[in-house]
Amino acid sequence: MSFDRSLKIAPSILSADFANFGQEIEAVEAQGADWIHVDVMDGHFVPNLTFGPPLCKAIRRHIKTVMDVHLMIAPVDPYIEAFADAGADVLTAHLEAGPHIHRTLQAIRGAGCKAGLALNPGTPVEALDYLLDMVDLVCVMTVNPGFGGQKFIHSQIAKVEKLRAMIGDRPVHIEIDGGITPETAPLMRAAGADVLVAGSAVFKGGSVQDPAPYGQNIRAIRTSCDKLV
Ligand code: DX5
Ligand code: ZN
Repeated sequence: MSFDRSLKIAPSILSADFANFGQEIEAVEAQGADWIHVDVMDGHFVPNLTFGPPLCKAIRRHIKTVMDVHLMIAPVDPYIEAFADAGADVLTAHLEAGPHIHRTLQAIRGAGCKAGLALNPGTPVEALDYLLDMVDLVCVMTVNPGFGGQKFIHSQIAKVEKLRAMIGDRPVHIEIDGGITPETAPLMRAAGADVLVAGSAVFKGGSVQDPAPYGQNIRAIRTSCDKLV
């Protein structure tokens, strides 16, 4: 995984057909996805349950791009090794998931993954002051985590602008997660984001049998950001 700030669209398989992840991933990559975003939820840190390391391991061989695993679980540390073994390229933990995020980030890098740190909408960006040199990606949540298809929270635009300034020249990706559409994507790209997660906006209208809408949806998000330059 090399570092650059080019725009990357990361479809979230939370909006894919759960009975058919392998083919869904291959279809959405063939249609232009840059990364594959995998939402892990524990029914405790967030009010929803999805899947764990065995599922990640099973889908790994279908992913040619980047496996971006978003852990919405608490605690995190006991599971880092298992998600690393499952093949996560990026492993993102929530700042709010426990009292020892510094240790968690060390453990993620120690396990050989890129370390991601996610912030809920209510968490200030200043919380990153002593963590920025330990992360490869900051994920700014633009919905409250737990579900796909929620409405984008506009107050997070100013947060991303601040974060972009704080990051400076550090090789740290800014990822946005929640409510990304062709309307909201350019706001976040302009604020400094380079990875845009999109679930419902990518998978809507398509299927493994008819994947062309995935490509149209990805291009619509990309084009909305191109208009900025
Ligand atoms: C929410 C997840 C997101 C979600 C995004 O807790 O972390 O990745 O799938 O879905 P959309 O793009 O539909 O808001
Ligand atoms: Zn996510």
